[in-house]
Amino acid sequence: MFCSLVTAPSPTVPAAVREAAADVYGRPLQSLRISVIDRCDLRCAYCMPEEDYAWLPKADILTFDEILVLVDAFAANGVRRIRLTGGEPLLRARLPDLIAGLDERGLDDIALTTNATQLARHARALREAGLRRVTVSLDSLKPARFETLTRRAAIDDVIAGIEASAEAGFESLKINTVVMRDFNDDEIVDLVAFGRSVGAEVRFIEYMDVGGATLWQPERVYSREEILERLQGHYGPASAEGGRGNAPAESFRLPSGERFGIISSTTSPFCGSCDRSRLTADGLWYLCLYARDGIDLREPLRRGIPAEELSQRIAEGWSRRRDRGAEERVRAPVRGALYQIDELRQDPHREMHTRGG
Ligand code: GTP
Ligand code: 5AD
Ligand code: SF4
Repeated sequence: MFCSLVTAPSPTVPAAVREAAADVYGRPLQSLRISVIDRCDLRCAYCMPEEDYAWLPKADILTFDEILVLVDAFAANGVRRIRLTGGEPLLRARLPDLIAGLDERGLDDIALTTNATQLARHARALREAGLRRVTVSLDSLKPARFETLTRRAAIDDVIAGIEASAEAGFESLKINTVVMRDFNDDEIVDLVAFGRSVGAEVRFIEYMDVGGATLWQPERVYSREEILERLQGHYGPASAEGGRGNAPAESFRLPSGERFGIISSTTSPFCGSCDRSRLTADGLWYLCLYARDGIDLREPLRRGIPAEELSQRIAEGWSRRRDRGAEERVRAPVRGALYQIDELRQDPHREMHTRGG
């Protein structure tokens, strides 16, 4: 039923999807985050604080056709939502071609996480190709602070990218802000106002001790409670929206009507309802953001195993899944950065920028 790997695959979502895979705790496999490239043009301090990095070998990076073959195998196991991530996904040439291929597959959602430095010139083509939703990472509205955090004076490009996305008419536009104590916690009120001005929902993310975050310290985490207190102190009482489902973000509404979200993965993880996994640009499949190792799907894919076997491997991998990485971090007796730099150099797949934010 699947096409050969050398020609562009046409959609192969089976008419009857096999029963959606469930892991050891009964969590369904519904969402896949695909990192299309490990490189990034920014160096955000919470993600890429080092001077240099080991990049994935070019020959290992999956082609779009290979990604689509894998997507069909995931869809056969219940995946209905895809998010493209990086590194910075817009550094991957011809990304709209991949999105058009995904769009043909009739999925429930195709979303993109981007730093938006290149978004202004791509927004329209991405929308036309079938991209539904865009999430932009933006941690400060102050140009000097933005540059200190990211090591690039790119804030004007990012704002232009956000404005172009608002014009392109995506189904939703969100802004993700990692809040770090004494760095940008004084901007959360302004970021909500900025979100309102561009029609974007802002989500505040607790600084996480994930791979790559070698500068992480517990004192730098600005918690869910503190975020709520600060926003309510300015805007008045926020009401919880409910209906979170499998999403990491809790949604709130302010008296003036704006919605905002909080992703409190560091202090109150949501592993119990986690339906997501990650595919790296070189075809390793990670069942958890914190997982040490992934399952190599590139090797069997390039060996040309039958589609049904590929799909079976995914079903088996997911059925053995016990990961609750963020919860384990909360229970750790001493909490610090997940990895030291030598462990990240040994295996760049441990980096957040490799497995996708
Ligand atoms: P929507 O599709 O809009 O609901 O986005 P999302 O809620 O899945 O969030 P998004 O993809 O924008 O991710 C936002 C942030 O949440 C990430 O950058 C991470 O910091 C955190 N996050 C996302 N996925 C996971 C996850 O699987 N585990 C944990 N612990 N944190 C996650
Ligand atoms: N803590 C929280 N979020 C992080 N991201 C990357 N590193 C971290 C971290 N240490 C997320 C941010 C960013 C996305 C690309 O990845 O949300 O916007
Ligand atoms: Fe899912 Fe792992 Fe994140 Fe928990 S830490 S929500 S199990 S990816």
